Amino acid sequence: MDCLVINGGATLKGEVKISGAKNAALPLMAATLLTREECVLRNLPNLSDVQFMARILKSLGASVMMSRGTIRVRAKKIEGFGDYDLIRKMRGSICILGPLMGRLNEAKVSMPGGCVIGARPIDLHLKGMRDLGAKVRVEAGYVHAKAKELVGGESFLGGRCGPTVLGTANLMMAATLAKGRSVIHSAACEPEIEDLAKFLNAMGAKISGAGSPTITIRGVRRLGGAEHRVIPDRIEAATYALAGAVTGGDITLRNCAPGHLSAVLDKMREAGVRLQLGRGTLRVLPAKQLRSVDITTMPHAGFPTDVQAQMMVLMLKSPGISIITERIFESRFMHVNELARMGADISIEGPSAIVKGGLPLSGADVMASDLRASAALVLAGLSASGVTRVNRVYHIDRGYEDIDGKLRALGANISREPGQ
Ligand code: EPZ
Repeated sequence: MDCLVINGGATLKGEVKISGAKNAALPLMAATLLTREECVLRNLPNLSDVQFMARILKSLGASVMMSRGTIRVRAKKIEGFGDYDLIRKMRGSICILGPLMGRLNEAKVSMPGGCVIGARPIDLHLKGMRDLGAKVRVEAGYVHAKAKELVGGESFLGGRCGPTVLGTANLMMAATLAKGRSVIHSAACEPEIEDLAKFLNAMGAKISGAGSPTITIRGVRRLGGAEHRVIPDRIEAATYALAGAVTGGDITLRNCAPGHLSAVLDKMREAGVRLQLGRGTLRVLPAKQLRSVDITTMPHAGFPTDVQAQMMVLMLKSPGISIITERIFESRFMHVNELARMGADISIEGPSAIVKGGLPLSGADVMASDLRASAALVLAGLSASGVTRVNRVYHIDRGYEDIDGKLRALGANISREPGQ
């Protein structure tokens, strides 16, 4: 298992191109199952999660051709069986449930299982399918869903931690081919949901309200093929913006959508980081004096849970006490123990991490775990003195395209080495 070796201390400078959004790409790829005609998705990021989703589409019977960020999918004839061995390896693959139900009125999909950040239940996904008239049961680790026909209905998708992003995606996709009108209340408002609705409407769906808490879908008889360009990855953009900030650098992000990360930019400004927004660009300039700020993760457009770990590293550089509260997932502080190995002083009180900022960080051997926690360890390594080895870098490759190449181009002293 490869590791990243970082010799910290470099001040990042230059430009970095943001890739297409992983969390948009996965449901978009699943949506191609809704039609027998060819679909083309462009600006796909080169990530192991995307390659894995392509494998899942092929396992369902679709023909898939991928080359340099473009995928052509033709799901002429598919079956509705999502194999355990595939689905359990990537939670995001649960978003094939909705398209399979929309296309076939039947699906047998493995329960995705939990992961390091929490139990990751899918009760709201199943509730949505039942609201469309499907009979749903869980047996031997598989979801069995079946309907004579899907009939539009009203759904409330708010859970104990707010809306569900992939649950909203699943229900929206299934409802495009249901009979009549469906309304999703307490829908997820993430930009990735808006992007999915745009693609589905290009395929002939009739969706309105995507990006707001109430989405209306008028069912149609069939969907056709379409072409679509995936939106930029707002989480990757936030990660590089914070990489610039924690090293006191001057970097410019290209091909990004600053409007998708307003909450992050607001908190970075509050912390003293200077930002210049342009058309599709974001320039990060050194803070005169970093300040500690408090963060609570929320559903969009609040502060994204996927940037919580990376923001913690900026707070480690900011003198004073910061309180970072995680409200979306039950155990998303995997990075804290690893950061402590680098000299960080962080204590956990329930859902909150109390961060004592302004102390020096020193390089150490650390272990990647959750995708975003691992990215935070890279940021900590960049800002620490000495050498940091981030082991099990495959976690990072799931969600960051060529992270070492992009950081090297910004002046970081980072290399990828075969691990033990
Ligand atoms: C998506 O996961 C993202 N993944 C996650 O990004 C992101 O952290 C999350 O949304 C934020 O909400 C993809 O888009 C592939 P949820 P998703 O359903 O849809 C609870 C990353 O690092 N819940 O919105 O699986 C759940 O336990 C990943 O890129 C239920 O209770 O997350 C959590 O507490 C990590 N019942 C909360 O809702 C359900 O049926 C939000 O989960 C579904 C979810």
